[in-house]
Amino acid sequence: MNKYVVEGRNRLSGEITVQGAKNSALPILAASILPESESEIHNCPNLSDVAAALRILEYLGCKTHVNGNVVTVRSDCMTRHDIPDQLMREMRSSILFLGAILTKFSEARLSLPGGCELGPRPIDLHLMGLEQLGASITEDHGYINCSIPGGRLTGGTVALSFPSVGATENIMIAATLAKGETTITNCACEPEIVDLANYLNACGAKISGAGESVITITGVEKLHGATHTVIPDRIVAATYLCAAAITQGEVLLHDIKPSLLGGILPMIEKAGCVIQKDSDSIYLKNNGRLSGFKKIRTMPYPGFPTDAQSPIMALSCVSAGTTMFIENIFENRYKHVAELLRFGADIKVEGRVAVVEGVSHLTSASVHCTDLRGGAALMIAALCAEGRSEIKEIHHVERGYEDIAAGLQKLGANIRRFSDVVAV
Ligand code: EPZ
Repeated sequence: MNKYVVEGRNRLSGEITVQGAKNSALPILAASILPESESEIHNCPNLSDVAAALRILEYLGCKTHVNGNVVTVRSDCMTRHDIPDQLMREMRSSILFLGAILTKFSEARLSLPGGCELGPRPIDLHLMGLEQLGASITEDHGYINCSIPGGRLTGGTVALSFPSVGATENIMIAATLAKGETTITNCACEPEIVDLANYLNACGAKISGAGESVITITGVEKLHGATHTVIPDRIVAATYLCAAAITQGEVLLHDIKPSLLGGILPMIEKAGCVIQKDSDSIYLKNNGRLSGFKKIRTMPYPGFPTDAQSPIMALSCVSAGTTMFIENIFENRYKHVAELLRFGADIKVEGRVAVVEGVSHLTSASVHCTDLRGGAALMIAALCAEGRSEIKEIHHVERGYEDIAAGLQKLGANIRRFSDVVAV
């Protein structure tokens, strides 16, 4: 098991260029099987989840090439329309390949994606939407079997009962090659949805309304490859801001549009940080102990993002006063709390509510990452805890943060990554 060892209390100071967004790169890589010529995806983050998506593309028969943060995908050589269990289990968001494979081949067979650390991850909205467009879907032996009796999806109206990010993406991707017009209502409005639509439109799709709650897609006969640059990762940006703030330091983030962070910046500013924004950068400085955030409700975009809940919770652990979190998106997104308590935090959880009473300081601990953003929260807490902390199960973190130990070291953190060599 690999781990990070952190000597806390170093004040962070410096500059970081924000990586490309994982939650944009993954749906775009899934959609890249549709064009009949090569796509070139720039600013694609070097992450284990991206590597898993590339393994799926290769399994399907696509040709991929990675050169730093540039990924090229050729899909005219695709041969398969199924994804086996071991590949589906590597990354939950593999379900995003369903709409693309189905609309390209008129059939798809994927093993049911596992749940994840955040609780069951149902896909009923994905399947309902595809059925609305004419797909016939059965499940057996843990696999989803999809086919299109008419040979091609037919545009229609899909009303989502919840603005699911993945369901919006899957249905939007599938509708690009459907016959006729598709309208999706109560869509997710996240910036990653807009980025995916921009890539697909660059490939010749006809999508309008992405970023709003109603998206319209006019089906086309085929798509061609495109060159696209992935937007910056707003959650990674928020994570670095929390890391600098908790050490009473400062950081200048490059390649990040402040508007991507929605309500996070005003919140951190109100708690006591100095924030300066430019068109493509964010500067944060914290000179003292922040005040608590009072109440934070996670909501679909543009509300407070659920992915920023745990990093902000880490920051709230040493803020003066109370912060109440209400997690409205996932039913089990407080697994990191038990680990934060080991640092001496004061947090009480009751269902979807977590109440944090800020303490004056944290002390080092040995902790285990429970999920991607929960792991990031443990790193943030360790940066300000007195003494040497060990953070294990870091594969969770490395799913979504490119070289985060190197990034924090660059800012002055005393953090080292150890690969535990298992004696054979
Ligand atoms: C995406 O997950 C992100 N992942 C998540 O980021 C993010 O937390 C989430 O959106 C919410 O913003 C990627 O983009 C790869 P949802 P997704 O469908 O699409 C329920 C991270 O840390 N639901 O919007 O799975 C579901 O159970 C990850 O980077 C259904 O009930 O999120 C959940 O409670 C974690 N039926 C809620 O909706 C469905 O068919 C939100 O899920 C689909 C979802």
